[in-house]
Amino acid sequence: MYAPQQVLTNEDLARRMETSDEWIRSRTGIERRHVAEAHETTAQMAIEAAHEALRVADADPREIDLIIVGTTTPDHIFPATACEVQNALGATRAGAFDLSAGCSGFVYALVMGHQAIASGEHTLVLVIGSDTLTRVVNWQDRSTCVLFGDGAGAVLLRASDGPSGVLATLLGSDGSGGDALIIPAGGSAMPATAETVERCLHTIQMDGQEVFRFATRIIAQATEQVTKRAGLKMADVALIVPHQANLRIIDTAAKRLKLPLDRFAVNLQEYGNTSAASVPIALCEAISAGRISPGKNIVLVGFGAGLTWAAVVLKWSIPPEEATSPAYRVWWRWLLYRWASLRSRSRHTTRRLLVKLIRVADRRSSSNHH
Ligand code: ACO
Repeated sequence: MYAPQQVLTNEDLARRMETSDEWIRSRTGIERRHVAEAHETTAQMAIEAAHEALRVADADPREIDLIIVGTTTPDHIFPATACEVQNALGATRAGAFDLSAGCSGFVYALVMGHQAIASGEHTLVLVIGSDTLTRVVNWQDRSTCVLFGDGAGAVLLRASDGPSGVLATLLGSDGSGGDALIIPAGGSAMPATAETVERCLHTIQMDGQEVFRFATRIIAQATEQVTKRAGLKMADVALIVPHQANLRIIDTAAKRLKLPLDRFAVNLQEYGNTSAASVPIALCEAISAGRISPGKNIVLVGFGAGLTWAAVVLKWSIPPEEATSPAYRVWWRWLLYRWASLRSRSRHTTRRLLVKLIRVADRRSSSNHH
């Protein structure tokens, strides 16, 4: 996982706008959020999280078959952020694409990655959730800007015959609720103009209460459905890792499921809502805190813009201590990343040189004709 170092507390926000630590804390549970600095982008955070995942799994980036980045704040509309990740890692065998499913993006991507492996086509899939929502909030709108933070989380999925791994999945969408959480401008429906920028239509517009109602219902419903699909009962689930939007949403969902709140991973007080990054960051922190151990059943559940939702049941099999790569493997990966950077630059330069040479040759042949 990766979280920017720059922290913005509720008190910092209260100094900038008409809000208070008390309001934000009591309505959302959020205390702080990590905010990307100018040099940090969705792709760069995704690359940092990927480095960490490759280190923990002691894997070689050249063996990755597929890279999926769940994001709604890609570095560019195109190329895909996943391609930037592929390039930076030197994952020369990998296909790469972004997946847009709002805050459900990571769980959606996990389901796609699992299915790519289950199809027999792929062996090693890198799944990332990375978002920089602080770049698309309206900092004058106190009802949305206090909610969001930035970050990235990544996991590596590897084919295995064991009884562990993904036990059941569930994906959902209700496009009729699309306008409850939307960035209206900047797409083909409303291309960016000076007027859209003036009216802040390239920033998040949200019907908070509508999203709140949807979220409390869908976390409970999706968790129950996916657990049933896995042939398990709620009592068999050791930990639920939900999208970290609001503590009141998680609390209401816990009551609906008749589960104590401590059955849920909650870290939104530190990060706010990091969109597609929230579930993998909460998962990483739950692993580090020793809350996930081999044999335990875990539910990951996301919801967000679309409206979308997604849930996965996992049976964990990895021992709690992180894989300790021998030092030479750490160095080897470091060299591979340097090589990837050189390779990228040389391919880029060669491509530009080729274009220039072709232009010169074209000009010569057309002047010869005259
Ligand atoms: N500080 C102080 N007052 C505020 C603030 C603020 N930051 N924001 C709003 N208020 C005021 C409003 O202006 C309103 O004042 P009024 O009564 O004088 O008009 C009052 O507080 C109540 O506003 P509500 O919108 O009714 O507050 P509510 O209790 O619904 O809480 C919240 C708002 C926190 C946004 C809640 O609706 C929520 O969490 N909704 C879900 C949002 C969410 O999870 N979104 C993301 C999910 S998907 C994804 O992650 C992309």
